[in-house]
Amino acid sequence: MEKNERPIGVFDSGVGGISVLKELTALMPRENFIFFGDSKYAPYGTKTLEEVRARTCEVAAHLKKQNVKELVVACNTATSAAIHILREQYQDMPVIGIEPALKPAVYAAEHSRVLVMATPMTLREEKFLHLMGQYQELAEIIPLPCPGLVEFVERGEIDGPDLKQFLTNLFGTYLEHPVNSVVLGCTHYPLIKEMIQSVLGNGVQIFDGGEGTAKETKRRLAREGLLNLSEKKGSVCFQNSLESEEILALSQYLWKYKANGPQI
Ligand code: DGL
Repeated sequence: MEKNERPIGVFDSGVGGISVLKELTALMPRENFIFFGDSKYAPYGTKTLEEVRARTCEVAAHLKKQNVKELVVACNTATSAAIHILREQYQDMPVIGIEPALKPAVYAAEHSRVLVMATPMTLREEKFLHLMGQYQELAEIIPLPCPGLVEFVERGEIDGPDLKQFLTNLFGTYLEHPVNSVVLGCTHYPLIKEMIQSVLGNGVQIFDGGEGTAKETKRRLAREGLLNLSEKKGSVCFQNSLESEEILALSQYLWKYKANGPQI
């Protein structure tokens, strides 16, 4: 296979990274992708740092064995826990991470209240604390850990009364004292964006880091001379540590209807 036709490896703790894959394929339709969801070990966000580092390294090695030309860590939690380890380990290929899209949310309005939804690990790790420190003077930044939310998406429960009730309880006081914007700091959350918006109301602006990550992925490929210049449309291959029919069907469903096809 031509060097530039090799696939881009994208991974997440589960199916959430499909929200990033959507942005990647929209921006680079000629590229080939392998998407690996580590659903057997999801969620990452409530595990220990050591556990998440071990899983992240294992999945990265699995993708590297498949001759990927670039690695995209489509998981905020794995990025905050292990991106530095992966970059050290794989100096022969670009390794791209994702972080909460705090900057555009802060700059969207002056002195606004910004709620950052993410996993407990993402919000407690140094990477986010550093990011928050950069913008703290410009806005009121409120971290909101969301344990339990990823599980809804992993079950394929992306709407319905139970999810609505869960979100209503989670937002609690922020429904009475509204925030200006919300950052979806976990790649699972854009897959339930409509539900989040309906609970928060239309006055709240919602941001996520998928598009920025896709742009950075393309920039790095271009810089390394690795863009796929073939005329053909690229392909997407789904893999998952659960290896069940159900999880592959859910991945296809989210991909087709939530990300790549008509909105449901
Ligand atoms: N999708 C993930 C993220 O962006 C991780 C969710 C989890 O497994 O806890 O943080």
